[in-house]
Amino acid sequence: MSQLLFKNRRPDHTVLLDEYRQNGGYQGLEKALREMQPAQIRDEVKASGLRGRGGAGFSTGLKWSFFPFDAEGDKYLVCNGDEMEPGTFKDRQLLEADPHQLVEGMALSAYALNINTGYIFLRYAYNQCYTNLLQAIADAKQAGLLGRNILGSEFSFELHVHRSAGRYICGEETALLNGLEGKRPNPRSKPPFPAIKGLFAKPTVLNNIETLANIPHIINGGAQWFSDLALTEEGAGTKLYGLAGHLNNPGCVELPMGITLGELVEEHGGGVWLGRKFKACLPGGASTPYLTADHFDVAMDYNPLEAVKTRLGTGGLVVFDDQTCMVAATLNLMRFFARESCGWCTPCRDGLPMVCWVLEKIESGQGTVDDVTMLKELLGHINGRSFCALALGAMGPVDGLLRLFEEEVLDHVKKGRCPLQKS
Ligand SMILES: Cc1cc2nc3c(=O)[nH]c(=O)nc-3n(C[C@H](O)[C@H](O)[C@H](O)COP(=O)(O)O)c2cc1C
Ligand code: SF4
Repeated sequence: MSQLLFKNRRPDHTVLLDEYRQNGGYQGLEKALREMQPAQIRDEVKASGLRGRGGAGFSTGLKWSFFPFDAEGDKYLVCNGDEMEPGTFKDRQLLEADPHQLVEGMALSAYALNINTGYIFLRYAYNQCYTNLLQAIADAKQAGLLGRNILGSEFSFELHVHRSAGRYICGEETALLNGLEGKRPNPRSKPPFPAIKGLFAKPTVLNNIETLANIPHIINGGAQWFSDLALTEEGAGTKLYGLAGHLNNPGCVELPMGITLGELVEEHGGGVWLGRKFKACLPGGASTPYLTADHFDVAMDYNPLEAVKTRLGTGGLVVFDDQTCMVAATLNLMRFFARESCGWCTPCRDGLPMVCWVLEKIESGQGTVDDVTMLKELLGHINGRSFCALALGAMGPVDGLLRLFEEEVLDHVKKGRCPLQKS
C-alpha cells in the first residue's frame, strides 16, 4: 500500500528536520530548484490530476493556471489549515506527524508560482501543530531551505503562521483572507477571485494543507506515477481518510483514492462497534449528504460519490450504527451550522435556525406531515441562494435525510415520538 503523506508517521514522535531529510525529504525542492523551471512544475501538477483536498475538489493545476505568476509586485501563497468541519481531522494528523511536508510543499509551490511570501492560516485549537510548524519553519530556515536564496538559488520564500480566531466560516477561502487581514471574516463576493485579487488585494493562491503536502511527492515521483496510485480511472493519488463515529477502529488512514466505502468501513475502520449494523455515514465531513450500506461498492473519489448525490468533501467518514436516529443526528449537525452562520445573508442566518426548529419539532414527536413538507421547501429555498457555500453544505445532511430516510422521518410524525427511543 502506497504511503506518501503518512510515510514518516511514527506513533511516538513528530518527524523533525534530520529524520525528514534522511527519509528523502526536501529532495523534491532540491530537484526543482536545480533542474526544473517553474512552468515544468506547474505542468507536472496539472498532469498529475491532483484535486484540492479542502472539500470542493477543484483541480489544483487548473487553479494554478489562473494565477498571474508573471505579474509585478507582491503575490501570496496561503495555506488553509482552519479545519473546523465536524468529522474532519486529517490535516491535524498530518501536521502532528510530519510538518516539513507542508513546508516543503509550500516552498515548491511558491517557486512554481513565482511567489515570495506564504501564510499558513491555522485552526486556533491546534496547539501541537502550531508548535511543530514554528519549529519546522525555524529549522528549515537555519538549513537554508526557506528564507533568502534557498539552497543558493535566486529563489527566496518567507513563510508565516497565522492562528485563526476559531469560527467555521474562517475556513471559507475569502472569509479566511479577510481574517488574515485582521478584518471580520465575512466572505467576499466573487469575482474577482483570489487568484486576481486576494490577500491585501494582491494575486493569491489558496490551497488546503493536504493538497500542498502532496506537491513534493508529485515532483519526486512524477505526474503519471501519482495519478496511477488511484484505484479509479479518473482519480489521482492517495487520500487521508478520517474514520470516526461508531467504528471499532477510529483514526486516520492513508489509502489510495477510490477505495470502496465498504473496504474503508470493514477493513480499515474495523466494522461497526458493539456488534451492531451499519446504518449510514457522512462520507466526507459534516456537510456531505449521507450514504447507506447500499453504497458499500461506491468508490471514495470525487466523481463516483457525486454520481450517488453526495461528495468526497474532506474524506472525513463519520459512521452511524443502527441505533442512531437520523433525525437527531441531522439536528445535531444543523445546530452546529446554524451557530456558525456568519449572519450575512438571510437564507443562512434565518433559514438554518428554521431547519433546526422543524427538526426539533419532529424529533420531539410534535411534528406533522406539513412540517416534513416545510423541511423539503426549506431545502429548495436555502440551496443555491446563499452568499457562500456554508449554507449549501449545511443542507447536505438534510438533503440526505429526506432522500434516504423519509420513512424514518414520517415514522416520528405517525408515532408522535422518536421511534428509536427505548420507551
Ligand atoms: C464554510 C466553509 C468552511 C471551509 N473550511 C475549510 C477548511 O477548514 N480547510 C480547507 O482547506 N478548506 C475549507 N473550505 C474550502 C475552502 O473555501 C477552499 O475551497 C479550499 O481551502 C481550497 O483549497 P484546495 O483547492 O486545496 O481544496 C471551506 C469552505 C466553506 C464554504
Ligand atoms: S451562507 Fe451563511 S456563512 Fe455564508 S455568507 Fe451567508 S450567512 Fe454568512
